[in-house]
Amino acid sequence: MQKILFATGNAHKLKEIRQVLAHLPYEIISLKDLGIDYDIPETGATLEENATIKSKFLAERYPNYHIISEDTGLEIDALDGAPGVITARYGGPKKDAQRNMNKVLSKLSDTVNRSGQFRTIISHVYQGKETQHEGIVKGRIATEQSGKRGFGYDPIFIPEGYNDSFADLGDEVKMTMSHRSRAVIKLLTSLTKKII
Ligand code: IMP
Repeated sequence: MQKILFATGNAHKLKEIRQVLAHLPYEIISLKDLGIDYDIPETGATLEENATIKSKFLAERYPNYHIISEDTGLEIDALDGAPGVITARYGGPKKDAQRNMNKVLSKLSDTVNRSGQFRTIISHVYQGKETQHEGIVKGRIATEQSGKRGFGYDPIFIPEGYNDSFADLGDEVKMTMSHRSRAVIKLLTSLTKKII
């Protein structure tokens, strides 16, 4: 069976991608499975660039694998698309979800327009060729945190059509329409075409 190396250390994301691609004839392995425990530098100016940097970094080292990497940003309209490419470190140099959310809530404290979106770019590299897949979920930023499930900004993001945050809704609902699920489904379609 061909191997897909997924460039993540996040167990939550690994589980999500394994579920969506479960019926395809690929074994999905993670950085941890290969004993890689460092962060691949994300020096790009856009989500697209960062996804490419991560997958090309691994493709050079593991040329026989399919490589998949992803980069996600929260893009808030009233903040001109911020935090965008710096979503993971918006609140400071360390990746700290609570600080990140605090900063967003404080920036929007007097703002009526709270609309925004999560956007994921998945990069797939195989035999030197890259394809990218985008997934978006629109929604709004809550006025306060709510919910204990999920991760990252989930407690302050309310997807369109709902009144509860991703952290209130939980994985089952989130998986049906999240930015990452939408990007992974496009990847699934592209991989399926390659198999048929
Ligand atoms: P990365 O692409 O995993 O580096 O994620 C960038 C930032 O977006 C991190 O702060 C994550 O916590 C956050 N993030 C990514 N996906 C989600 C999500 O599904 N819900 C909430 N926050 C997310």
